[in-house]
Amino acid sequence: MKYDVVILGGGAAGLMCAATAGHRGRKVAVLDHANKVGKKILMSGGGRCNFTNYYIEPENFISQNPHFCKSALSRYTQYDFISLVDKYHLAYYEKTKGQLFCENKAQDILNILLAECDKAGVDIVTQCSIEKIKKNKNFKCVTSIGDIKSESLVVATGGLSIPTMGATAFGFDIAKQFGLNIIPYQASLVPFTLTGNSLEIAKQLSGLSLDVTIQCKHQSFKDALLFTHRGLSGPAVLQITNYWDLGEQVTIDFLPDIDLNEYFNSWREQQSKSELRNLLGEFVPKRFSQIWLEQIGLNKPFHQLTQEEMSNIVTHFKSWQFKPSGTEGYRTAEVTRGGVDTNDISSKTFAANTVDGLYFIGEVLDVTGWLGGYNFQWAWSSGYCAGQYV
Ligand code: FDA
Repeated sequence: MKYDVVILGGGAAGLMCAATAGHRGRKVAVLDHANKVGKKILMSGGGRCNFTNYYIEPENFISQNPHFCKSALSRYTQYDFISLVDKYHLAYYEKTKGQLFCENKAQDILNILLAECDKAGVDIVTQCSIEKIKKNKNFKCVTSIGDIKSESLVVATGGLSIPTMGATAFGFDIAKQFGLNIIPYQASLVPFTLTGNSLEIAKQLSGLSLDVTIQCKHQSFKDALLFTHRGLSGPAVLQITNYWDLGEQVTIDFLPDIDLNEYFNSWREQQSKSELRNLLGEFVPKRFSQIWLEQIGLNKPFHQLTQEEMSNIVTHFKSWQFKPSGTEGYRTAEVTRGGVDTNDISSKTFAANTVDGLYFIGEVLDVTGWLGGYNFQWAWSSGYCAGQYV
């Protein structure tokens, strides 16, 4: 079997690249070891696929080489993908913060990509295991269905999150085989796990959600936090994991819109005898303030609090500092942060600088987006741009 272009991985990036190259008249095959393509698209966004975001900026992506993503994001923008979605009359809505979701279901997005691949004459081969890759002038993939030769080989095998969906480190292995550098990778957009006292609190509050500001190093997010029986989750927590490394401290403000000192002053003026947990109940769920105050031994009527105790409470509610023991890992992570070093890749063509005809796109690269449609936009942008050159 001989193709102009073989794409390894039929996920978001691979299918976009395949359709784009096919429309240029290239003879394209997509090889995937899973029993169907686009599985992560189907499970994304709670089954409704948060397929892009109105506010895509290079600053929303994390990479050792922060300039790398700029070119592709500007050549194939969120509006280009929205035009494609509009071409198929797909209904969508903005949920929050510019995040666009399918009105109906994620399958609609996959159907668009499959229709585009079909129009472009792309061959999609599932349940195909790739055993070896060889290169002379052309590439030869030794696979479970026989040898497949191609001029160009595109690696679009994604990251390691959700191994049960077919995620593998194959893309990283290919990069290593051809001498490319790998930026150390880890699970990201993933819940934190806690130990000790913090875990006990999280367990007691499990299921409770509230809006917080969360901060690690110089990055912060204001969004919902969810206590779980293993630690902390929710969009605010997932976002900050993109910036967190093991051993680092995280700070949470549980009352992001409240100047607690001002309220303390006014309650003092009113000589309030109410329980503090009830007063705070105006801003946070009572269960939260009760357990939090019990934890620091200050669950008592407001008028009994000393100045020192009040400042202790402010510290605990406004800037709680903790060190997560880790994350839930690839089992529940949305993405893999790190990957193929973009310094070894052309930001224009996505070709490896030192290997003719070898391309890397999507999540396998060291480019990781925020939660909120950014990672799919990276898949569309990188897939489209590479598709122009493969
Ligand atoms: P992707 O993982 O999509 O595809 C890789 C493909 O390669 C798969 O089809 C796989 O089977 C195949 N493959 C892997 N190893 C192989 C091998 N050895 N041989 C052959 N084939 C192989 N992002 C977003 O923007 N909005 C959202 O709503 C969500 N939601 C979301 C939910 C969940 C639960 C997860 C896990 C992830 C998300 N994401 C997301 C992230 C998003 O799904 C992800 O960034 C993109 O799918 C990455 O696209 P790729 O094409 O690079 O990889």
